[in-house]
Amino acid sequence: MWLIVGAPHAEDMITRRALLKSIGIAGGAGVMFESMQALGLTAPAIAAADYQAPARGGGHTKVVILGAGIAGLATAYELGKAGYNCTILEAKNRVGGRNWTVRGGTTETDLDGYKQTARFSEGQYLNAGPARLPQSHITLDYCRELGVEVQPFLNQNANALLYYDGKAPVRYRTAKADVYGYVSELLSKAIDQGALDKELTADDKEQLLTFLEDFGDIGGKADGFAYTGSSRRGYSVEPGAGDTPGVVLGPPPSLSEVIAARLGRTFTFEFEYDQAITMMQPVGGMDAIPMALYRAVGTHKVRLGAEVTRVTNHANGVEVAYRDATGERTISADYCVAALPPHIMARVPTNLGDAVTAALKTPTLTPVGKMGLEYKSRWWEAEDRIYGGITETDLDLTHVWYPSYGFHGKRGTIVGYYNTGANARTYGSLTPGQRVERALAQGAKIHGDRYRTELANAFSVAWHRTPYVEAGWVGWPSRTTGEYELLNQPQGRVYFAGDWLTYWIAWQNGAFDSARKVVTALHSRVQAGG
Ligand code: ALA
Repeated sequence: MWLIVGAPHAEDMITRRALLKSIGIAGGAGVMFESMQALGLTAPAIAAADYQAPARGGGHTKVVILGAGIAGLATAYELGKAGYNCTILEAKNRVGGRNWTVRGGTTETDLDGYKQTARFSEGQYLNAGPARLPQSHITLDYCRELGVEVQPFLNQNANALLYYDGKAPVRYRTAKADVYGYVSELLSKAIDQGALDKELTADDKEQLLTFLEDFGDIGGKADGFAYTGSSRRGYSVEPGAGDTPGVVLGPPPSLSEVIAARLGRTFTFEFEYDQAITMMQPVGGMDAIPMALYRAVGTHKVRLGAEVTRVTNHANGVEVAYRDATGERTISADYCVAALPPHIMARVPTNLGDAVTAALKTPTLTPVGKMGLEYKSRWWEAEDRIYGGITETDLDLTHVWYPSYGFHGKRGTIVGYYNTGANARTYGSLTPGQRVERALAQGAKIHGDRYRTELANAFSVAWHRTPYVEAGWVGWPSRTTGEYELLNQPQGRVYFAGDWLTYWIAWQNGAFDSARKVVTALHSRVQAGG
């Protein structure tokens, strides 16, 4: 119930729905939309979109940026718009940081000395880092601005599978039909037996029972609200022409079995604000984003293979020492933006003081692993009718992703595992060959022998064992104990940037927003005289 502000009597309390309905009838859709806005019921604008790129005025101000990940590149891109003279130092021989698309020919040696060279066919790739973009993220604004073409990423698929407790895999749609069906049956019975009379009016009860009948595809009152299965589970014989009505997959497991199987454990994923059934991805690989930024910034402004060895903050400028193929070098600038992961930056000697170093060491590191498996045929589409989406497992693989690109092509590349924590450590501690063996043995439990026999190529990444990265992402034990706040402020002429300084950790959105924050602060300072 909703109380009209200032209404003196209880009878002035009306439901929002009744109000909106009456406004809709009397005033039409336009009035209804305005009323919804007034009530706060429409989608809010995304605050980050309010960013104003600095007007020209950077003059000859020199900025040295540490790291050519998304935060570093975006900082150079935005400062470049205002005429700043930026140089990026990047230790790796490529830009993008964790935004890394592995294709045929990609080579990487990890911290354990294991060297892999991807043998993927033309057009096949693995987005080893970020691989899906929420529709609300400013990452998509940068794609639009930079001309990076995007396409849908299918994050959840009713035809994908759930594999738990060593039992036969169940399709998402089947599991959802059973869970929603039984939950609807139970709630309907409770309502009908008066168990919720304190919470619900007679009108509410009627509306809710009508909703649940449809939501769970259950029987009405005369049928005891029973869930007895439904075509939503799928068919064992598909409906077809003439006298082929199809055979609904059934009978459903009992209520007790459905509860015990905990099939609903991943359903809520699609409700998360940063996840959804439909997301987006750049066409041809996620690295289209850093490559577009790289071109926009100017490739000559990025020094690859340049490992930072010291940062010195002076009253009037900064000096950064680094090592590259030609030896030890230094670069001087007016400001520095350190866009390295905090645990990597913590190891760079600086004169910024112990509190800064301690703060940089505060975040906890998340091990993350991912494997690309290229297959000679797209059997998951042709035989299993799975077009994109994710199979959820309680195996150490955790998630198995089917590609949201190249449908009906000859070959395809599955994400054979995407895992974190202990599971990522388990795979990361194996040789690349052992990882493949393990992933195939696990995956074959879900998909059978073709998981092994159809394989063409594999490539894996253990981000916690990857030089200059050493974690999939980081987490703050607390954002209110001073460290997060300290590093979100400039230390002398040194600013810090990265997803780790935002509430969007492990998203490029965070890296972009952090870059914008630093650019805004740095530019105001320069405008105010430095
Ligand atoms: N942003 C990362 C993901 O979507 C963590 O998996």
